[in-house]
Amino acid sequence: KIDNKQSADDEDDASWTKLPESGDSGAQSYMEEFLKQQALEENPEVKDLYEKAKSLDATAEREKSNKILLEAIEKYKELINVYGDKVNDTIFKEIAEKCIERMRFMGKLKQTVDIHYKLIHRFVENPSYRNQLAVTYLLGNRLSAAKLVLHETLSEWRNNGFALVHYGYVLKNLDQDYENAILYLREGIETNDPGTQDGRFYYNLGDALQRLGRQEEALEVYRKGASIGLFLSEYQRSLYNIDRLKSKPFWTKVETTYKDNLVEIQKYWQIIRDEGLKLLSNDGIFINEQENLKDTGDWKQFELFARGAATKYCHMAPITCKIINGFKAASSCKRGQVKFSVLHPNTHIHSHCGPTNCRIRAHLGLQVPEKTFIRVANETRSWKDGEWLIFDDSFEHEVWHNGTSIRLVLIVDMYHPDLTEDEKRSLSPI
Ligand code: LMR
Ligand code: MN
Repeated sequence: KIDNKQSADDEDDASWTKLPESGDSGAQSYMEEFLKQQALEENPEVKDLYEKAKSLDATAEREKSNKILLEAIEKYKELINVYGDKVNDTIFKEIAEKCIERMRFMGKLKQTVDIHYKLIHRFVENPSYRNQLAVTYLLGNRLSAAKLVLHETLSEWRNNGFALVHYGYVLKNLDQDYENAILYLREGIETNDPGTQDGRFYYNLGDALQRLGRQEEALEVYRKGASIGLFLSEYQRSLYNIDRLKSKPFWTKVETTYKDNLVEIQKYWQIIRDEGLKLLSNDGIFINEQENLKDTGDWKQFELFARGAATKYCHMAPITCKIINGFKAASSCKRGQVKFSVLHPNTHIHSHCGPTNCRIRAHLGLQVPEKTFIRVANETRSWKDGEWLIFDDSFEHEVWHNGTSIRLVLIVDMYHPDLTEDEKRSLSPI
């Protein structure tokens, strides 16, 4: 595949990148293929364009060329827009779906909408084309638009599992309407329809239940998710995983295999702290957590590294930035960040899981008051000035600040030590 995937733009929480297919566009039957060929033979002009599009598409794939892929997309569009009425249903379906898939890949989400509607209107009896439009909206983070389409779909196809789970997902993440999200997610999951047995729906159902204090029901959902392989375990619910990695909630420096680096960084903890505090006194450069993980209070972050590279703000903490640069497992970690994280008194961060098991998260305590806690799986600990607290954030964790002055830590994500060099190279960034 051409290396142009949109990566999850969220730090924690499971976000919307890869999508399940909506189901019924499976393998074409022999008969359909035969009829398609016959139809093409009858219309040389269309046949020509069709073959041109397919061949450009194949070349783009082979040469990993986005430029050629764009040419293929143009041919597909011409087929759909100019010759749409002349081609039979099977061919129309095929090229329209291919075109949408390729345009999504190129990040041209807006342009797909037109084609989605052509499919929807041509195959009015088939809700899966409506569902695909909703998926495009979700890919573009247009939750309200997705909600509208899904709502309409459900008014006609009340039992469509795919629409149900997606609608539930939107109710939870757009409206924070946990009560109704639970009803839709649950009903959708229970249909077992294609696309419904997905970790994101189990994760969000459990999360909505937990936020309403329905812990026992949440656990049941997590257990089922783990039992059918959607989660690594009921506590470890990251969705971008490599299976065989050692997993435990809290880690020691030795276990990470990066003890020397960690001890080295620790020597400079006061310098790091002072850089963090200085940035903090600079109003407005720390950014509020944006994933709806915070329950009460105030939680802000300042990012120095993300997805394996320094951010454009790294130089604002020059010494810290330089120190981390010398720690490759962190500075090059494509599935993590390095950042200052500040919690104000009376803050509670909801229980949540990070997106991947490919990193280990270390917190260096910089300014730690009394009565601050972090629970990871079923163990609760606290930070200490100048000390590391190391955990695997793919496990469920929850944070409290019940003290009276700010808590500052440096969060350092590092590659899981069991990853091979090949794996690190091929991981998609998060
Ligand atoms: C988290 O990763 O959710 C928290 O540990 C962040 C923090 O600043 O404690
Ligand atoms: Mn977290």
